[in-house]
Amino acid sequence: MAEITTDASSAAEALRAGRLVAFPTETVYGLGADAASDSAVAAIFEAKGRPRINPLIAHVADADAAMRLGRFNDAAMRLAEAFWPGPLTLVVPRAEDCPVSLLATAGLDTLAIRVPAHPLAQALLTAFGGPVVAPSANVSGRLSPTEAEHVAESPLAEKVAVILDGDECPVGVESTIIGFDAGSPVLLRPGGIPREEVEKVLGQSLRAAKAGAEGTPSAPGQLSSHYAPRARLRLNAAAPRKSEMYLAFGPDAPKGVPGLNLSPTGDLREAAANLFAYLRILDETGVDSIAVAPVPEHGLGEAINDRLRRAAAPRPGEEQG
Ligand code: TXA
Ligand code: MG
Repeated sequence: MAEITTDASSAAEALRAGRLVAFPTETVYGLGADAASDSAVAAIFEAKGRPRINPLIAHVADADAAMRLGRFNDAAMRLAEAFWPGPLTLVVPRAEDCPVSLLATAGLDTLAIRVPAHPLAQALLTAFGGPVVAPSANVSGRLSPTEAEHVAESPLAEKVAVILDGDECPVGVESTIIGFDAGSPVLLRPGGIPREEVEKVLGQSLRAAKAGAEGTPSAPGQLSSHYAPRARLRLNAAAPRKSEMYLAFGPDAPKGVPGLNLSPTGDLREAAANLFAYLRILDETGVDSIAVAPVPEHGLGEAINDRLRRAAAPRPGEEQG
């Protein structure tokens, strides 16, 4: 069984031994491995049941370390300066001497790189001293963990050596992923930094990612089922139906219905921070269906709605349509 601790040095030791470590970032908990080790990287895909064509993000402690892994154009440099450390991932061409295992990038010549801000992630990356690949620490297709207990209670717990406990993740949705297509910036995944803030720094709008199947690099997991609770989700519901739980948003939510409110004041940051944990709580009541209130599409609402749509999408093996 995994050791649950706040000691980053013992987690770094486990990484050096080729083991897996769950650790907090400001977005969600990650399942980390030594990025330079083929066998440790393979263990991540194995543990998550993740398709091997779905590449991983390499995490490092600072922008200098990031710039040794990949080639940054002007726009990428500006974004790194503005948002690192923080919930931003940049997809850039691999540097020639990049030590990250080719297994981690599914053979692509690009690499997704992120510098997380969470103090325990920083402590782990500094103690380890090299890049750490880390997908979210959930079984592939399920809800992302935002508390150490979410990992401890999941089937992944027995596959990790250490769970670093850093309390609740303050952002609550994964990093915003920006790629570059012939140099021009593309929003590959909405996330913890709102599109508007990225566009302000770039002085231009972000192009949309081309729609693709789960795990295809141009549009990571865009339309297919992901982040799925056991219950079904019914989106844009003004109120729950009989026997549904309600995930509400904002001050005008119907009163006296069973469920939770993502943010009674209508604050999108608070809603993002609560999203995955509240879906878990409602799912654990055993209901068949969770009705979800409409959430505005601006700011962090874009990431919240993206996760909700994927959570509601038809699941593999189910009839489409
Ligand atoms: O906030 C986050 O980003 C969290 C924490 C743990 O850092 N990590 C995370 O990793 O969300 P994961 O594996 O659940 O999602 C990474 C996404 C995948 O959709 C993957 O397809 C995409 O990043 N990705 C990774 N490398 C890529 C590349 N070279 N080109 C395009 N997409 C890439
Ligand atoms: Mg994930």
